[in-house]
Amino acid sequence: MAWNSLDDVALAGKVVLTRVDINVPMEDGKVTDATRIEKIVPTVEDIIARGGKVVLLAHFDRPKGKVVPEMSLSRIVPAVEAVLKRKVVFGTDCVGAAAQTAIAASGPGEVVLLENTRFHAGEEKNDPALAADMARLGDVYVNDAFSAAHRAHASTEALARLLPKAAGRLMEAELKALDAALGNPARPVMAVVGGAKVSTKLELLGNLVSKVEHLVIGGGMANTFLVAQGIEVGKSLAERDMADTAREILAKAKEAGCKIHLPVDVVVAHEFKANAPSSIMVVTACPADGMILDAGSETVARIKAAMSQCATLIWNGPLGAFELTPFDAATNATAKEAARLTAAGHLISVAGGGDTVAALNQAGAADDFTFISTAGGAFLEWMEGKVLPGVAALNV
Ligand code: 3PG
Ligand code: MG
Repeated sequence: MAWNSLDDVALAGKVVLTRVDINVPMEDGKVTDATRIEKIVPTVEDIIARGGKVVLLAHFDRPKGKVVPEMSLSRIVPAVEAVLKRKVVFGTDCVGAAAQTAIAASGPGEVVLLENTRFHAGEEKNDPALAADMARLGDVYVNDAFSAAHRAHASTEALARLLPKAAGRLMEAELKALDAALGNPARPVMAVVGGAKVSTKLELLGNLVSKVEHLVIGGGMANTFLVAQGIEVGKSLAERDMADTAREILAKAKEAGCKIHLPVDVVVAHEFKANAPSSIMVVTACPADGMILDAGSETVARIKAAMSQCATLIWNGPLGAFELTPFDAATNATAKEAARLTAAGHLISVAGGGDTVAALNQAGAADDFTFISTAGGAFLEWMEGKVLPGVAALNV
């Protein structure tokens, strides 16, 4: 697929409609994690440096086509101003007179932020009429919202078809990192997939077995695979009704020459609680009243040995109950090894999706990863091999 970067489009004197994902977590009216706002800085600065006027289009939460005051983007204006270090002029609607007034009122070097696109029912319907109303406001469309690119919405999809378009710097970085991890990777490739349930990651596992040489399965979903192989897991989290599916994935992996890494030893406790008394045992020894909460040290040693032979790593999901000490040990040790190999120049490491970033931060490993995606759902859909509509619409 071919897309333009900011370098490929004329920006001087243009009003640049810039779709960003600043759907940030808030508590008591304050932004608790501004990462997604920080990530749009390069794009905003580039557009301004090249003489363009930045008009930010964004969604916030899920107001479902209605005006919900608690989901107004006006609430994050102070956080956006603090991060961008620029005055932000807020428009109380993302189309029409209110938007036009805000754009006209903004001076050089100021940034316009328009109200939540999802206040219009047409946004989630990818309504061409709403997109046309947005297009009337500007001259160029820039999409910097990779983490919303799995949504075919008016501001992420239809609008891209109406104006000269480009990927913003964050979108560009995400697309390049993803291509380096699964599109056109240096081989061999290891994928680490963890988390609670096989059922939510079926398509992802099915896609990965034909694309990677090593697939590490961890977390609760590993238990489902153990059950599928006739290994008893006691009271551990497991989806027993998914055993057939797990066996199909194992068969597909074998056919494709993908080595599956399941736990060979496990950390077993009797309660799902931080610091619950636990013991480490071979995987076949879990008692009927036991609960597997982490992979054991022999499993970690084997993952590390395989990782040292790989050129690329893609990671989604923790290997154990990482939110409870000490059941974060396997996740931490594996993440630290990935960070070490990356820092030493031996590994390209890409991670993303939901809990993953929190787990890698907790392990102190995130800074050394080659790339950490800002995306949750979009990262998963991309790992499933799906075409993301917001990316496809940038095709030129
Ligand atoms: C996210 O936070 O995952 C993105 O902003 C997309 O939001 P959505 O899941 O509500 O579409
Ligand atoms: Mg989401």
